[in-house]
Amino acid sequence: MNTDAAYELLRQFASPVVAITSHWQGRSNGMISDSAVRASISPRVPRLSVYIHKWHLSHELIWRSGRFTMHLLHQKQLEVVHQLGFISGRDQDKMAAIGHRPGAGGVPILAECYAAFECRVINTMDTGYATHFLGDVTETHRGGGSEILTAPWLRQNLPAEWREAFLANYRHAQEYIDGHAAIQDIRWTGPER
Ligand SMILES: Cc1cc2nc3c(=O)[nH]c(=O)nc-3n(C[C@H](O)[C@H](O)[C@H](O)COP(=O)(O)O)c2cc1C
Repeated sequence: MNTDAAYELLRQFASPVVAITSHWQGRSNGMISDSAVRASISPRVPRLSVYIHKWHLSHELIWRSGRFTMHLLHQKQLEVVHQLGFISGRDQDKMAAIGHRPGAGGVPILAECYAAFECRVINTMDTGYATHFLGDVTETHRGGGSEILTAPWLRQNLPAEWREAFLANYRHAQEYIDGHAAIQDIRWTGPER
């Protein structure tokens, strides 16, 4: 298989760019993802899923609490992508500079977003380098904005001064994934008490 060609085609699975917040025992965090998927078409069974790399602080907080809040962002929120998606909460309290209020279980809800979905984890799938989290949506909040931020739009509008850091993070993640592709089949057994 020509893996480069396959990779270019994989990138056509265009997802929204979302902010995912988490909270566990007094610690709040947020990250950016472009791998979020609506996981149900029934209004009576609202579900979302997302895959999160195991080395992220967000992974630890979501795994332990069994909760996350997913935010659709609008196109005037590029700065939030930079604030949450370029460095780890292990190195800096990223939520300190971003307006938010506590939602269920203390998980932050961003003051500004297109929409927020409070989720409770109901299942996970191990992918070796990441965990795919499936969540029941427990609350939905409509925010502001009109045009949703998507991955193709972000690629076209990424400020030039962010590009180097963006690509460096990307390469680092790809190298980790290459070395951790084997499924470990680690089971999530519910939130920590
Ligand atoms: C556009 C964009 C998309 C991203 N998509 C994902 C993703 O789908 N899954 C993931 O684990 N990390 C993704 N990241 C990387 C994390 O957001 C980033 O590494 C973040 O700093 C992790 O923070 P944490 O360690 O505080 O949890 C993405 C970053 C950007 C900028």
